[in-house]
Amino acid sequence: MQLKDKHILVTGASVDSDIGLAICVALASQGARLGLIGRRAEALEATLTHIHAMTPTQEADVVPAHYIHAIDLAELDTIVPTIKQLVTLHGPFDGLVHSASFQGYSPLKTLKPSQIGQYFDINFAAAAMLLSAFAKQQQANAGASLILIGSAAGQKGLKGRCLYAASKAALTSLVKSAALELADKHIRVNCVAPALVSGSKADKQFAMLGEQQAEALKAAHPLGIATPTDVADAVSFLLGPHSQKITGATLNVDGGFLAG
Ligand SMILES: NC(=O)c1ccc[n+]([C@@H]2O[C@H](COP(=O)([O-])OP(=O)(O)OC[C@H]3O[C@@H](n4cnc5c(N)ncnc54)[C@H](OP(=O)(O)O)[C@@H]3O)[C@@H](O)[C@H]2O)c1
Repeated sequence: MQLKDKHILVTGASVDSDIGLAICVALASQGARLGLIGRRAEALEATLTHIHAMTPTQEADVVPAHYIHAIDLAELDTIVPTIKQLVTLHGPFDGLVHSASFQGYSPLKTLKPSQIGQYFDINFAAAAMLLSAFAKQQQANAGASLILIGSAAGQKGLKGRCLYAASKAALTSLVKSAALELADKHIRVNCVAPALVSGSKADKQFAMLGEQQAEALKAAHPLGIATPTDVADAVSFLLGPHSQKITGATLNVDGGFLAG
């Protein structure tokens, strides 16, 4: 119960996000009280139901009061007032996990200007505005830990995915500057960067590959492809008491993908 009574906001918490769901279950099972963010209220309600089913040992009167808030984070002007409203309703935060993202392919020869905002608004600009909201007076407690979910794609070239990769690379830079700026408030800021993670997205990717390409993709992860729980474990570590001097870092959860 290393996160007991910690109030943590998780974006991208909709039930069909393999990683977001695993993060919610991991944090709730360690006693955290979660605010769940996504655009679809019904998909957040389904996450709440799942969390309650997966953490049944807590007695009814001590079950943390998780809550949901449906919002489109690409509407960047609404982020600061929304965080203020949530703090008024539920109290200041001890943590943030920004997992919501736009993923996809953007080959250079067909790139359209409108695609750039599609990736950068949710992956980068929403992250920056969330950090800004948490930096304001009385929105986050001293000792808070803020985590942005990046990607190994941000540290290595990927054909056909320049916008996704660049939007995630920007997070590695963002956490460094934010860490310096928020250190005097004792707020830490880090990035967790998975490579391919097992689940629906990996299944789709493997379905598009021939046998040899699939074997090569697996071999590029010498320790094996990470699971959503592996990512959630890294997030728990960075939110918890055993990472108190870690800030401005990007922690790769990549099965060795970037080591080669
Ligand atoms: N899956 C992988 O293999 C992999 C690998 C490396 C890194 N990552 C990173 O890990 C994180 C989680 O990945 P994932 O594949 O599990 O989930 P995801 O599909 O990238 O996104 C999770 C959720 O974010 C919410 N979301 C998207 N746009 C939003 C917006 N404008 N406002 C509010 N919420 C929004 C969506 O729920 P709603 O539709 O309800 O809004 C979606 O279900 C992402 O940051 C991703 O880039 C994933």
